[in-house]
Amino acid sequence: MFRKVLLTAVAVAAVAGTAAGQALAAQPPSDDVSPQVVGGSPAAQGEFPWMVRLSMGCGGAMYSDLLVLTAAHCVSGTGNNTGITATYGVVDLQSTSAVKRTSSYVYKNPGYTTSAGGDWALIKLSSPITGAAKLPIATTTAYDSGTFTVMGWGAASEGGSQQRYMLKADVPFVSDTSCKSSYPSLKPAVEICAGFTQGGVDTCQGDSGGPMVRRDNNNAWIQVGIVSWGEGCARPNKPGVYAEVSALSTAIATKAKELDPNSGGGDPNPPTGKVFENTNNVNIPDAGTAVTSDVVVTGVTGNAPATLQVGVDIKHTWRGDLVVDLVAPDGSTYRMKNSSSNDSADNVITTYTVNASTEVANGTWKLKVQDVARYDTGYIDSWKLTF
Ligand code: ARG
Repeated sequence: MFRKVLLTAVAVAAVAGTAAGQALAAQPPSDDVSPQVVGGSPAAQGEFPWMVRLSMGCGGAMYSDLLVLTAAHCVSGTGNNTGITATYGVVDLQSTSAVKRTSSYVYKNPGYTTSAGGDWALIKLSSPITGAAKLPIATTTAYDSGTFTVMGWGAASEGGSQQRYMLKADVPFVSDTSCKSSYPSLKPAVEICAGFTQGGVDTCQGDSGGPMVRRDNNNAWIQVGIVSWGEGCARPNKPGVYAEVSALSTAIATKAKELDPNSGGGDPNPPTGKVFENTNNVNIPDAGTAVTSDVVVTGVTGNAPATLQVGVDIKHTWRGDLVVDLVAPDGSTYRMKNSSSNDSADNVITTYTVNASTEVANGTWKLKVQDVARYDTGYIDSWKLTF
């Protein structure tokens, strides 16, 4: 049914002497009984709330309140850049309720070339869109199949003009093998294709940088692609080519964390399992000043994980007296245990999990312990960090 309608649409376009195919939201013939599936259709306000239009004529998706994920080929290079305007929150680009921000910085994937692929970039906004809808990115290939949804304000037909209203369409996954027969230069490791054999539905010029999404196992939208390129638009046997987000997700998430520590989207520093320990005993003075014990971490690249394990073995006759902190190499302090006047049990022998993902791993970490009440005493027996 869908494909038959599409063939009809292409035939109509051909008869009308228009471009080779219809791209997003080709307007259906008036007698079409299911106009919503031909080429594409207007998106409803709020349907794709994380969608962004960029002033250079590209799409993008909110990755965090401060970051827009788009295509590398949409931006000129990495560096400070106040020349891009992002429009958020509307399907109508002329709506007075549009939320606008200018850019402050652009990061273009340094490995990107048209032949190598890796078509992604992050745009940092001059101020956050607080509470913006965010589109999570796929971190495994689990969602790299099925039916995808694409949207944007790009051309509605090959060679056509940019759109005022956001258009959307559904396109099926095209296997690497099949896509490579259409495009011998395809880089299947970092590119994913979508479209109909007959053509008729596709993204087009001006949709670049926008997301290709599908529903995840919880029925939430997840980003599997970034609009990248294609031969013409919606031509038969010429699917749209998208940057394969799952293959690029680690690099994207790592850079995003750097540009915006508040960004989510996957753990850029998963645990390595490396252990660093100090077994020297340190006496804890009764109701006295804090004491510390050092652990020197070397050979761990990047930041500490979000799940840094802090194993603590403190011998004490009234643990309620104790306040226990972890101090990162830069001095940032993470409170792991407070004092409590009614906890009369002995010892603190436990493992705390600390989100230390904003801390550089290598350097001298300290366990800091203070006894804040009189009478009972003890010592740090040993402690360790597991990265
Ligand atoms: N490179 C285009 C842009 O800058 C997008 C091309 C997408 N083409 C396609 N046939 N899917 O907007």
